[in-house]
Amino acid sequence: MLSSKRILLIISGGIAAYKSLELIRLLKKQGADVTPVLTKAAQEFVTPLSVSALAGEKAYTDLFDLTDEAEMGHIQLSRVADLVVVAPATADIMGKMAQGRADDLASTLLLATDTSVMIAPAMNVRMWEHPATQRNLQTLRSDGVTFVGPNDGDMACGEFGPGRMAEPAEILEAITATLSDGPLKGKHIVVTSGPTHEPIDPVRYIANRSSGAQGSAIANALMALGARVTFVTGPADAPMPEGASVVPVQTAAEMMNAVQQALPADAAVFAAAVADWRVASASGSKIKKDNGKLPSLEFAENQDILASVSQMKQGRPELVVGFAAETDDVLANATAKRARKGCDWIVANDVSPETGIMGGSENAVTLISADSAEEWPRMSKTETARKLAAQIALTLGENT
Ligand code: CTP
Repeated sequence: MLSSKRILLIISGGIAAYKSLELIRLLKKQGADVTPVLTKAAQEFVTPLSVSALAGEKAYTDLFDLTDEAEMGHIQLSRVADLVVVAPATADIMGKMAQGRADDLASTLLLATDTSVMIAPAMNVRMWEHPATQRNLQTLRSDGVTFVGPNDGDMACGEFGPGRMAEPAEILEAITATLSDGPLKGKHIVVTSGPTHEPIDPVRYIANRSSGAQGSAIANALMALGARVTFVTGPADAPMPEGASVVPVQTAAEMMNAVQQALPADAAVFAAAVADWRVASASGSKIKKDNGKLPSLEFAENQDILASVSQMKQGRPELVVGFAAETDDVLANATAKRARKGCDWIVANDVSPETGIMGGSENAVTLISADSAEEWPRMSKTETARKLAAQIALTLGENT
């Protein structure tokens, strides 16, 4: 997704520097080239050797290094990147950037660059909230620097609040969204995926066979075209789409809530196999055997997330896509389902056991819209996802 993109990654000296190792790994996995630069303080937390080994490139540390200057001067180093990322960005480096100081390699590169700069602040909560840092933040914003995080949370120093560095996956997502030049650049798409687990009691639940493979593939395909994806997923087996903003949930009710929180969006793709029913009054304690007496479960219907988003009076995504997993009369049932729920498209598939689609790696779908039904040949879930993402890009593009 980031192939042929070059990131100049500046690591400044905070405890969150260890997370920059994971960021390098994720960036490399997406095909990016990473040129790492460490401040002196950063080297107290991570070594140039580990950074360089992961990046597969030399780690730069010194402003006055004759060998480096002979190979690639610091001005050139600051210009070859598609994006300069500072992660973690300490209060100190933010201060230097805001003042335009250049007393080491990292700050000099930041002053000399003509490339966009994104920073992921990480510091103690009091330092973050200090008027000086907040002033620097405003200055940097007006200089065009973009920010990812900081997040709220427990901090290494034992305090709680804003100041914790954004997770590497979130930083990757922000980088991907910034660098993408695909047709979905600037579009936000919500994808639901996986099964839901509806509790019976604290140890038992009702679930279904969805692996989440199709949902993950759709999220990846949309991101490859430049979309920013919020991925709301039940407990799935498929790997999470790296670079998406992942919201893990268990139940249908939690999924509904997470989708509402994730809106507004330009499009929403509901690939989750949401449980239609939950146990009406799940037991708070484990249900015990009772001398051969069988327990009876009463069900309540879950709210239909797809229908409720499709029928929103205000703020409805421009394009709402549902799935119809059917075993009989696939086309007729799916066509009726599209009209009933009010979504724009239904991706219909036959999940009869003999098709091997549920939990398998292939899919054979029909894309149903208000005025057409397009049958796609059986292909991998990845290819199905690519084709669907391309159609979504075409439609959102037409409407802008
Ligand atoms: N869906 C949803 N919320 C629910 C149930 C389903 O968002 N509570 C969405 C699914 O993500 C899918 C679509 O609705 O996109 C179709 O789901 P499906 O289970 O096939 O259809 P149902 O509405 O359950 O109809 P039926 O059980 O009669 O087939």
